[in-house]
Amino acid sequence: MNLLTNISQLATCRAEGGQGDIHLIADGAVAWEGDSIRWVGPRRELPREYQGADIIDAGGALVVPGLVDCHTHLAFAGWRAEEFEDRIRGRSYLEIAQAGGGIARTVRLTREAGERELGERAGGFLREMLSLGVTTVECKSGYGLDRENELKLLRVYRALAGRQPVRLVPTFLGAHTVPPEFRDNRAGYVALLVDELIPEVGRAGLASFCDVFVEASAFSPDEARRIFAAGKAAGLRPKLHADQLTAGGGAELAAEVDAASADHLECASAAGIAAMARAGVVAVSLPLASLYLGQQPMPARAFIEAGVAVSVATDFNPGSAPSYHLPFALTLACTTQRMTPAEALKGATIYAARAVGLESRIGSIEVGKAADLALIDAPDVTHWLYQLRPNACVATVASGAMFRHGIETS
Ligand code: NIG
Ligand code: FE
Repeated sequence: MNLLTNISQLATCRAEGGQGDIHLIADGAVAWEGDSIRWVGPRRELPREYQGADIIDAGGALVVPGLVDCHTHLAFAGWRAEEFEDRIRGRSYLEIAQAGGGIARTVRLTREAGERELGERAGGFLREMLSLGVTTVECKSGYGLDRENELKLLRVYRALAGRQPVRLVPTFLGAHTVPPEFRDNRAGYVALLVDELIPEVGRAGLASFCDVFVEASAFSPDEARRIFAAGKAAGLRPKLHADQLTAGGGAELAAEVDAASADHLECASAAGIAAMARAGVVAVSLPLASLYLGQQPMPARAFIEAGVAVSVATDFNPGSAPSYHLPFALTLACTTQRMTPAEALKGATIYAARAVGLESRIGSIEVGKAADLALIDAPDVTHWLYQLRPNACVATVASGAMFRHGIETS
């Protein structure tokens, strides 16, 4: 039994209440055995039976649930720094894509890369994410776009899942864009996804979700409906890249197909927001992508006021969001979307857990849930996201195992 004490503030982030209710406990303690939490509460109420546990001193840290990054494109080859500069000089994301850059460029590089190389690289990203307090990462395929390479990416995730401490939730994103070899036969590509790839991914148990980039430049709502139907038949729940660059009815479609989440939503309509509220679909805000593309971010306040749970994630990918700094995304949610620090934290914990279908296991500090914790050297949540110190996270507990970070001093 492990007992973490000397916690100045403990944000349990339970689901009940609204977006800003993070259920703080002052001078808290949390006990866990193996990978599961056994007790949590104010230290003075600690039951006798836990008093002989192995005590870990949190050093007065703020303790929050292990963060959940519920939207990443974790495995890919190469980078696209030139496009970052091209956009600064005035080219748009779409112009770059139409000239053969963008997603298609990363697809070319990823097809050439080996499974081992992709896995080592993604594993390096995960080590740094863990040091920021992240304990669960949703990871999409989508840079293979053919049978061999989409399966390769999902196998990279399966191998990584057993080899390092961060919990992975794999998503099939074969419908990221139509690959160049199907440019004149998009129906053929949708048929390949629906008839072959999705059933195979389902049979092999290689993914939990099926995502579609619903956008004028990618897939139409009708194509997406067929893809989601195949996904459901294969046991994969829908997720959407919705209304990112244009208002395309993505939010409405997310409600119609009972998606776990609709992500991006910078251009979502009022009707779409209302439909998501009625259907209980989580809205995933990706403020790093809006920042890098120079876009207005998703109108988080409108979603919250409509009663939609808003999650915040990185969208880590080599194009629109080349950073996996989830706390930075939370700070951006505060400053550019007017979410309070507590609202942003709930968006990267319990609501992010809901967006990946794991709300009963992760996302809050509660008895019976996974012992996933981040120890933050800050007086409170507001100060943490306000100052955003590079080494604010001093330790991460992932499935009960503790990893200490920070600069070694000798
Ligand atoms: O979520 N919107 C589509 N997909 C990614 C971008 C991928 C890329 O540019 O490589 C996104 O922003
Ligand atoms: Fe994305």
